[in-house]
Amino acid sequence: MASNQSRGRDDTSVEALNTPNDLGDNATAEIASEINMLVADAFALYVKTKNFHWHMSGPHFRDYHLMLDEQSDQIFATTDPLAERVRKLGQRTLHSIGQINTISRVKNNDAEFVNPADMLKELCADNRAMAANMRRAHEICDDKKDVATASLLENYIDETERRTWFLFEAARGADATGH
Ligand SMILES: [Fe+2]
Repeated sequence: MASNQSRGRDDTSVEALNTPNDLGDNATAEIASEINMLVADAFALYVKTKNFHWHMSGPHFRDYHLMLDEQSDQIFATTDPLAERVRKLGQRTLHSIGQINTISRVKNNDAEFVNPADMLKELCADNRAMAANMRRAHEICDDKKDVATASLLENYIDETERRTWFLFEAARGADATGH
């Protein structure tokens, strides 16, 4: 049975969540802060992409509706592995919808109607920003020698750039009706 004595853990408080890790508390805290923002961004972008999937309209409805469904699934699939990286580092991960609202960098959109071209352009910009934020987190992971989080991010950067590419091409020259 593993002993928690050496870490001075108190299993009745937040101290019980201190998963042992050799990267050091300063490094893991800095990485966790970046990753938690990415998890919040992913939840926010998931909801926005689903919203546009549900409220798509126009002549390319089927194509765009299906593309956004596929993209939302891909974004959602990043949340659990990223959140669990933070726990593996011994830090606390995302807690609540309130925290998503506080730390997410994805711009909220609760407009009654968004035309198809604007939906594609907005998601393209959001995904482009997400890739840049992932690269920034990757640099910090590299600097702190957290190869596991860096490796996870490498695939997610590729997926995010693929989403940006598809959105960019679909939105190219589209008028407000989606033609
Ligand atoms: Fe659906």
